Amino acid sequence: MTLSSIPAQAVSRSAGAGLELRSDATQLRSDFPVLAREVHGRRLVYLDNAATSLKPQSVIDAVTEYYSEGSANVHRGVHLLSQEATTAYDAAREKARGFLGAAQASEVIFAHGTTSAINLVARSWGDAHVGAGDEILVTVMEHHSNFVPWQMLAQRVGATLRVVPLDPTGAVDLGAYVRLLTARTRLVAVSHASNVLGTVAPVSEIVRLAHAKGARVLVDGAQSAPHLPIDVRQLGCDWFVCSGHKMLGPTGVGLLYGPLEVLDEMPPYEGGGGMIGQVSLEGTSYATAPSRFEAGTPPIASVLGLGAAIDYWNGLDRPTVFEQEANLMAYAEERLTTVPGLRIAGHAAQRVSVIAFTLGDIHPHDIGTVLDTEGVAIRAGHHCAQPLMRFLGLQSTARASFSFYNTRDDVDALVMGLARVRRMFA
Ligand code: ALA
Repeated sequence: MTLSSIPAQAVSRSAGAGLELRSDATQLRSDFPVLAREVHGRRLVYLDNAATSLKPQSVIDAVTEYYSEGSANVHRGVHLLSQEATTAYDAAREKARGFLGAAQASEVIFAHGTTSAINLVARSWGDAHVGAGDEILVTVMEHHSNFVPWQMLAQRVGATLRVVPLDPTGAVDLGAYVRLLTARTRLVAVSHASNVLGTVAPVSEIVRLAHAKGARVLVDGAQSAPHLPIDVRQLGCDWFVCSGHKMLGPTGVGLLYGPLEVLDEMPPYEGGGGMIGQVSLEGTSYATAPSRFEAGTPPIASVLGLGAAIDYWNGLDRPTVFEQEANLMAYAEERLTTVPGLRIAGHAAQRVSVIAFTLGDIHPHDIGTVLDTEGVAIRAGHHCAQPLMRFLGLQSTARASFSFYNTRDDVDALVMGLARVRRMFA
């Protein structure tokens, strides 16, 4: 298939329009070539999905196909290869619109990832609309990417950063949020799901309360996009951001959604090719969204790969897949609580499939290193969430994070690996 043969109108097709939807984890695993490899002579047990997901063959093929059959720039050439690349690029934006539930494709900007999307909003909207004496509200469970850009903005303009705590279960403390939300609050930035505790924030409620005070809301969907149905209009947020590489796509691309009236309030962030109306020695006028925020050659191959990832999601029976994931999470918790000395951080009622844990006083890096020798990949450390670690009274944790292609066998391998860790260190 050539790039031009990817039909733009096919891409937003919801799962169900005559497609046979798939949900069998064992079958789905065969779509991910890396799962066939061994690590230290053992079957790979990949439980680091919150850091990045694995990629199905169709995504790898889309990236390869762009370089082998196209490799032209977009929105610039009159020649066939450029036109094909442009058609495929625009089709990917339409796919992203469908994935997010946005009203129009022009409300979806291809950023380089969640971090770059948040920095774009902080620099563009933040510098223009947040000033001395204003307040920015975040929660204590934010990833550094949804914390540091706001701290930097507050320092630049003389605003104050306020932090909403969690309740004892690890859920966002809504009572504290209501108390901290004032007429001075200009912006609320909140993770849809925590990359450490898995806690899902009550985003619709957070948005409703913030809008009643005249504040705008950015939702960091890096951890929710691969685990929850996303509908930005139902959430009602002013911006929703997520990363391609955590939702089966390539690295180097992410999505920034904003309703057009919000994007229209945002001055350009980066200047360059593709984001202008007219340029003269006297000055420059700017393109409308999304082009205004996509200066320079975009990450074309990654965008096409992300489009293929969304096609893959559209081929899944997502309600069933997410339910299986929840069952796997329950099984993992049940099994992990049988490991002596193991303590899970956070028990909020609503969580995505992330489990952070400590094991006695064994250093999480030792846990991760021993598990690696068993073929089990987890993450260990502060998970780019140092304010949360301090709030929890921890230095670091081990973290297992699941996807729909994980199975009970993976959980059993983790538990067996932890028994070995205990034999070595406890
Ligand atoms: N944000 C990614 C994680 O939590 C990198 O691992």
